[in-house]
Amino acid sequence: MAEPVILGIETSCDETGLAVVVGGQIRSNVVGSQVEIHARFGGVVPEVAARAHVESIKSLAHRALAEAEVHPDDVTAVAATQGPGLAGSLVVGYSFGKAMAWTLGADFVGVDHMEGHLLAPMFQHEGYEPPAVVLLASGGHSQIVHMPAWGTYNLMGGTIDDAAGEAFDKLGRYLGLGFPGGPAIDQLSSEGDRAAVQFPRALPDSPFDFSFSGLKTSVVNWVRKSRDSGEDVPVADVAASVQEAIVDVLVAKTFNAVDETGSRTVAGGGGVLANRRLRDRMAEEAAKRNVQLALPSPDLCTDNGAMIALAGQLALQWGRPSVWTGDIDAGKRLGHDH
Ligand code: KG4
Ligand code: ZN
Repeated sequence: MAEPVILGIETSCDETGLAVVVGGQIRSNVVGSQVEIHARFGGVVPEVAARAHVESIKSLAHRALAEAEVHPDDVTAVAATQGPGLAGSLVVGYSFGKAMAWTLGADFVGVDHMEGHLLAPMFQHEGYEPPAVVLLASGGHSQIVHMPAWGTYNLMGGTIDDAAGEAFDKLGRYLGLGFPGGPAIDQLSSEGDRAAVQFPRALPDSPFDFSFSGLKTSVVNWVRKSRDSGEDVPVADVAASVQEAIVDVLVAKTFNAVDETGSRTVAGGGGVLANRRLRDRMAEEAAKRNVQLALPSPDLCTDNGAMIALAGQLALQWGRPSVWTGDIDAGKRLGHDH
C-alpha cells in the first residue's frame, strides 16, 4: 500500500498551521503566527483570529505542499482540528479542509487538538509508546493523561481553574512582559533567581490536579508590598520565581501519576512544554526513576499542523471513518468523539 500523504490543518486558536506528513514523517510544517496582531490587544481576540486565519490559510496551504514537494493530487487525506478551541477559528480550518479533501477526492478526518499534542512526541521518539503518562499543558488546557494503549486516554487530573499557559500569560501581562507571557517569562527567567521569592504552591486535594488562579494574587500582593516599601521590583527574579512555582506543581503532579501507574514512559505536549525549566525538571525526575522521557522539540510543542496530520493519519489507521457530516466542537473533550 502506498504511504499515506496527509495534509494537516490547525486553526484552533491564533496559529494557522499547515503541514504535510508522509508515512508518519514531517515533510513540511508551516505556521503563520498571529502573535503580532493580538499583542496590541494583550490577548487573543476571537473574531480577529478567525479573520486572520481566512486571510492566510490558502497561501500557507500552497507553501506547505510546495515545501513538501507534494502535488495536491497525491494527498490521500486531509486532517483538520475539530476542537477544542475558538469556534470561529475552528470553522475556518475545518471548512477549508473539508472543501480541499472533497476537491481532491481525499479522505477527511476531524482531529482532537489535544490528541495532536499527545501524539506529537512520536515524530522524534521512536520508543514513545503506551503505557505512558502524558502532561498536556497549553493556553487553554492542563491535563495529566494516562494512555494505557494507543487511542485510549484516561484523564487522571487537570486544572481546577486556570490552565498553566493562561497563568503564564496573565502573569506575563501583569509584569509588563507583553503577550504571550509564557515565552517572555521563560526568556527573562534565565537572568533571574528562581529562589528569590517563595510563591505558594497550590496543591489541591487530588494528587493529580492543579490550581493556578491563586498565584496571580500572591504575585500582585508581593509586588505591591515591595513597591510600597520603596524597593525596585526585581522583575527577572519575580519571573523566575513565578516560573518555578508553576513548574514545581506541574512536575510534582505528573510524576505522582507516573508513580501511581508504574508507567515507564512519560511524555508531554502543548505550548507550556516548550518551557526550558519545565523540560529540565522533567528530565531530572525521569532520570531519577529511570523512565523514558518523550518531549517534542519546542516547535512541535506549540500549535502546529504536523501533529494534526499525524493524529489524522493514526485515526484513519485505527479505523475511524472518513466523515463529511461532522462539525467543529469548540468544547471537545479528549476521548469523546461524535
Ligand atoms: O499549545 P499552544 O501553542 O496553544 C494552545 O493550544 O493554547 O500553547 C500556548 C501556550 C501559551 O499560554 C503560551 O504562553 C505558552 O503556551 N507557552 C509557554 C512557552 N511557550 C509557549 N509557556 C511557558 N514557557 C514557554 N517557553
Ligand atoms: Zn495547543
